[in-house]
Amino acid sequence: MSNKPVYVTQPFLPPLEEFMPLLKQIWDSKTLTNCGPFHQRLEAALCEYLGVPHISLFTNATIALVSALQALRVTGEVITTPYTFVATAHSLLWNGIKPVFVDVEPDSLNLDPAQIEAAITPQTTAIMPIHCYGRPCNVAEIQRIADTYNLRVIYDAAHAFGVRHQGQSVLNHGDLSVLSFHATKVFNTFEGGAIICPDAKTKKRIDHLKNFGFVDETTVIAPGINGKMSEFNAALGLLQLQHVEEAIARRRQLDQLYREKLAAVPGIHCLAHDPDAQTNFSYFPILVRPEHRCSRDGLYTKLKAQGIHPRRYFYPLVSSFPMYRGLPSAHRDHLPVATMAAEQVLCLPIYPDLDVDIIDRIVAIMQAD
Ligand SMILES: Cc1ncc(COP(=O)(O)O)c(C=O)c1O
Repeated sequence: MSNKPVYVTQPFLPPLEEFMPLLKQIWDSKTLTNCGPFHQRLEAALCEYLGVPHISLFTNATIALVSALQALRVTGEVITTPYTFVATAHSLLWNGIKPVFVDVEPDSLNLDPAQIEAAITPQTTAIMPIHCYGRPCNVAEIQRIADTYNLRVIYDAAHAFGVRHQGQSVLNHGDLSVLSFHATKVFNTFEGGAIICPDAKTKKRIDHLKNFGFVDETTVIAPGINGKMSEFNAALGLLQLQHVEEAIARRRQLDQLYREKLAAVPGIHCLAHDPDAQTNFSYFPILVRPEHRCSRDGLYTKLKAQGIHPRRYFYPLVSSFPMYRGLPSAHRDHLPVATMAAEQVLCLPIYPDLDVDIIDRIVAIMQAD
């Protein structure tokens, strides 16, 4: 058995020889960026694959989140979740918006719609939930609240590539959705991201915003940013798209195997999938309950000592970082479910090339004294 360290993920890469002809095309054309042919082709291919009307490619999801808020001119306060990656809340601060944290549901660890209304004030303009680990939020209830109070909804869909809910792409919910194509994601372009939007007019505004606000050579309509995905990343994305189904199928097998083997381990709770969703198996989160033979951090240390590196993802809670913890909504008493999840969660290794023996090793370590 190999003693190589096992990390929580390993990026999926297509065979290098398949990428070389695409690189040759870029070298020959000398078009490296500025929404060139690969950029346009990837936008079209992703619309088709994902089943969405419009998509705008970005350098990464963080810049896409910042730009999505700009595109809808969101101001004031935005209701969001503390159980996320810091980029969700940071995108609000970059826009001078006050995050208002609301707790998550115990089953999905997604923003709890039942607690949103109590957090709405006259300053609230939007809701920014995430489809945590790719599991769809309660999109119907969130939309009902948004319609009632005239709020925008921007989904941080960084984990939700290819996820479908009740037969259609989960990315079609809300006003905008933002994907991440970071190296660690199910579909990666090394770095990358995208905004999904419902209409051509909004897509045009987003396209202007990611190109400094330029509309033409001499007209600048907004303080835009440089968020354009390069031709290199877009060409890689086209190639990755040809392999993504096989990558997700392999993840599905591993997810199933983990669930079968962990069922026998006391105190280990695997988060359930949504029966109405077709998921992408992007993460394998477990909760280490008090009934387990050691604490979450004890298990984390035990696995690391054996060369297996899970992640306490999401820990610490975003609301506990210095730039957020002074907010009244950041108090841990206000966020009991998120606090519990952050103290119990461990994401186990899952990626297409993961050897199934590793799952046996992890289970054996959990059962050993
Ligand atoms: C929930 C969430 N939002 C946003 C991001 C930021 O994505 P990116 O690295 O593409 O900027 C990530 C992960 O990286 C994430 O997990």
